[in-house]
Amino acid sequence: MTKNLESAETSTVATQADDRFDGTSIMLHWLTVILIVIQFSSAWMRESVDHHSSIAASLLAAHLNSGVLVWVAGVARLIWRHNFAYLPPFPPSMPKLQQTIAKVNEYSLYVLLLVQPITGLGRVLFRGQPFDLFFWQVPALFEENDSIRHFLAESHEFGAKALLALIGLHAGAALFHRLVLRDGVLQRMLPRMSARAKLAPVLAKNDAE
Ligand code: HEM
Repeated sequence: MTKNLESAETSTVATQADDRFDGTSIMLHWLTVILIVIQFSSAWMRESVDHHSSIAASLLAAHLNSGVLVWVAGVARLIWRHNFAYLPPFPPSMPKLQQTIAKVNEYSLYVLLLVQPITGLGRVLFRGQPFDLFFWQVPALFEENDSIRHFLAESHEFGAKALLALIGLHAGAALFHRLVLRDGVLQRMLPRMSARAKLAPVLAKNDAE
C-alpha cells in the first residue's frame, strides 16, 4: 500500500530534508529524466543530419529503444506508486491551489509519458515496414497507411511540445522550492548519497546570506 502521511503532525516531519521518497521511486524518477533527455536529443539531432546517413539511423534506433523504455518505466512507476511507494506529503506551508497545480502537472506528465511512446510506435508501425527494436526485428504488422501515420506524427509532435511545457513547469517549480521557498521539496527526490553533496554550494551560499 502507498504510504502517504497526511496528518499535520507527520507533515511537520515531512519538511525535513531526510523525509524523502523511497529509493525505488527516486531511481525510477531519475531514470525517466535520463531517458527523456535521450528522447529529445536524439530527435533534435536527427533533424540536423542527413536522414539517409548511418548516424540518422543510429539516432532513430536510440530514439525508438529508449522511447519504449520510457513507457516501461512509466508503467513501473505507476505500479510501484500505487502499491509500495512512500510519498511524503506536501509541506504544510504550501497553499492548496499550488498543491492542486502540482498534482495536475504530475498526472498530466504520467499521461504523456505513457501516450507519447504509443504515438511514436504507431507512426513507425503504420509505415508498413519491418523495423528493429533492441535485438528484435519487428515484422510489418500493419499495412502502410499515410492518413493514420500523418495523424500519429502530428500527435507525436504536439505531445512532445506539451511534454516539454509540463517538464519546464515541473523543473521550474522544483527549483523555485529549492532556491526561493527553501522548504526541502527538491531534496526529497534527490538520491540520498548525493543530495547534500549536490546542494553543498547552494547551501553554503544560503548560509552565508
Ligand atoms: C516519451 C517518449 C518520446 C518522446 C519525448 C519523443 C519525442 C520526439 C520528438 C521531440 C520528435 C521530433 C518531433 C516530431 O517529429 O514529432 C520525435 C520524432 C519521432 N519519434 Fe519520438 N518520442 C518519444 C517516443 C517515441 C517512440 C517510443 C517511438 C517509436 C517506437 C518514437 C518514434 C519517433 C519517430 C519515428 C519520429 C520521427 C523521426 C524522424 O523521422 O526524424 N518516438 N519524437
